[in-house]
Amino acid sequence: MVTARKQLSQRADYTHKYNVRSGRHGWLRLTPAYSVKIVEELINKYDGSIRIFDPFCGTATTALSAAYHGHEGVTTDINPFLIWLGQAKTAYYSPEIIAASRFASIRALEIVKKGGIQGVPRPPIHNIERWWSENALIFLCQLRAAIDEVTQVDSQQRTILLVAFCRTLIALSNAAFNHQSMSFKDSDRIPLLLDVDMCSSYAEDVEFVLLGAAENPTGTGTVILGDARNPSAATNGLFHRVITSPPYANRMSYIRELRPYMYWLGFLEKSRDAGELDWLSIGGTWGIATSRLNEWQHESDHFESDLLSAVRDNMTHNDNKNGRILANYVAKYFDDMWMHFKGLRSMLAPGGEIHYIVGNSTFYKVLLPVEQLYAAMLKTLGFQSIKCIALRKRNSKKELIEFDVTATWHG
Ligand SMILES: C[S@@+](CC[C@H](N)C(=O)[O-])C[C@H]1O[C@@H](n2cnc3c(N)ncnc32)[C@H](O)[C@@H]1O
Repeated sequence: MVTARKQLSQRADYTHKYNVRSGRHGWLRLTPAYSVKIVEELINKYDGSIRIFDPFCGTATTALSAAYHGHEGVTTDINPFLIWLGQAKTAYYSPEIIAASRFASIRALEIVKKGGIQGVPRPPIHNIERWWSENALIFLCQLRAAIDEVTQVDSQQRTILLVAFCRTLIALSNAAFNHQSMSFKDSDRIPLLLDVDMCSSYAEDVEFVLLGAAENPTGTGTVILGDARNPSAATNGLFHRVITSPPYANRMSYIRELRPYMYWLGFLEKSRDAGELDWLSIGGTWGIATSRLNEWQHESDHFESDLLSAVRDNMTHNDNKNGRILANYVAKYFDDMWMHFKGLRSMLAPGGEIHYIVGNSTFYKVLLPVEQLYAAMLKTLGFQSIKCIALRKRNSKKELIEFDVTATWHG
């Protein structure tokens, strides 16, 4: 018999294991702890082994949590870097791979210490000297080249060494990351990187990543490149649950936050590529994406709603000079989500339950009730038992709230 105390200690053990690969203090510090907790609570409710889909993978929180609970997690994202990271996070690592990766990291650092390698070219990041000191840049370019030298293309050893490299490049940078945005530290508070032992910093990061790699999940996580506007194109079979945090309609650019990793790992080569990827992403408005919104037109099949039209009118006639662009931004966001929800129906098992963890937004004092518009779209598409459950206030502005928009599908 499993006692309550044993259950508790198993749970703590599980949470610890999970947190090493994911979460705010996991491999890469990208996902807020709160999102991890909500997904955890939702997945923890299900017994047996079910199929769980997350159309907006991000850092693979849902797929990883599903896999650690013994379920089958399947997830898609439009950003190839996040696919690489998600595949790294959900993979199985054998003891032999872990030993080989540790050995490879030691060899890579020896090569760098001896000065025995020509560094890779500096990534074309705008104002790169704001990000890293000259010394840190030399070190990172040489380490990046040494990792390629000691591991094979697409090997698990290279993946582990690159995840650790991502941690180190942020640790050595002048950038301060907080959840919503990235800023640079005050110049007079930047630590003197000359005094930091960069090799030890990388060695520690490798050990941290190996700790997570040794904690393999019992279920499976599959991470696939795909567009959520046509979700069934990338996956097979029916799902019992969808648990996701979709892009918010708040003009936040995920690409902007991920730039340093994406440039260093070769997922981005020019700044224009970043704008193009943001344009492909739902809710993206960075660089080229913003100017394209000016000419944007509705898809022929789109979601019609009096509530949405009223909000858009309010934005267009607001004093703010970007009113028209913002109204187009919002319209495009809901056109995209409409395509997504339409495509989702054929992927759900009868009785399948969906959870969209999403916040509302404001644009120059105009409130956009995203949760109500999701609920209206789901109703039009034939979903049932639709609820918008308020989860928490997002910040001190009292109208900004995060919701779980949930519904069931009965065919
Ligand atoms: C709010 S984040 C997901 C956060 C995630 N739950 C986590 O734990 O990190 C939204 C994600 O949607 C992705 N995305 C945006 N447009 C997409 C599309 N058309 N198809 C698939 N993924 C998309 C973005 O790249 C981003 O990773």
